[in-house]
Amino acid sequence: MAPRHPGAEQWVPDGAGIGGLRRAARTCEGCDLYREATQTVFGEGPANARLLLVGEQPGDVEDREGEPFVGPAGRLLDQALEAAGIDRSRLYLTNAVKHFKFDRIEASSRRLHKKPTRGEAIACRPWLQAELRAVAPELVVALGATAAQSLMGPDFRVSTQRGEVLPLELDDERYELLATVHPSSVVRLSGDDRDCAFAGLVRDLRAAADTVGDR
Ligand code: URA
Ligand code: SF4
Repeated sequence: MAPRHPGAEQWVPDGAGIGGLRRAARTCEGCDLYREATQTVFGEGPANARLLLVGEQPGDVEDREGEPFVGPAGRLLDQALEAAGIDRSRLYLTNAVKHFKFDRIEASSRRLHKKPTRGEAIACRPWLQAELRAVAPELVVALGATAAQSLMGPDFRVSTQRGEVLPLELDDERYELLATVHPSSVVRLSGDDRDCAFAGLVRDLRAAADTVGDR
């Protein structure tokens, strides 16, 4: 059976702004992922951002540096944002899960990214909910299935529902959400497949920016 996690709830301070949430998240033990990871990687960006982007979880580089989307997936996201005419500094960028999950490769110092379970995404969701509440974005952009399913439920399929503005009700608050692919899924491709996946990501990001009139 999947391990049960207490969840982040008890670490999330009521009514805190982004700064207070980030400080509190440093000591979260809402699931087991804090044990092996270097640090909590909390969201980054202006508290009045109109677009809030949600990735999966920090990767190897993010785990060391303590900031979201600063590794290879972040570089690809930067290129896609630029192609879509979106200024990264005006976005709030975060992840569905705030600690890096990985396997150690024996006889090497490499750490291989491991997809978080649904239980871990649910355990970490109180942080994401608190970020949504504090930022109150006009549109939430889910990058990939982990983020989309954390917010929209396990039956959500990015492949069929991407690029559309959908209602999101969470924690008695109403938001709008648009899902697209995760930048890592584009990084893994090559040649025409990569160009095509990149163009799809740019198209969805442009649609997101147009929805909030921010481009
Ligand atoms: N992938 C993510 O989902 N988030 C990051 O912060 C980095 C890579
Ligand atoms: Fe807490 Fe989320 Fe880290 Fe788990 S992944 S320990 S719930 S911050």
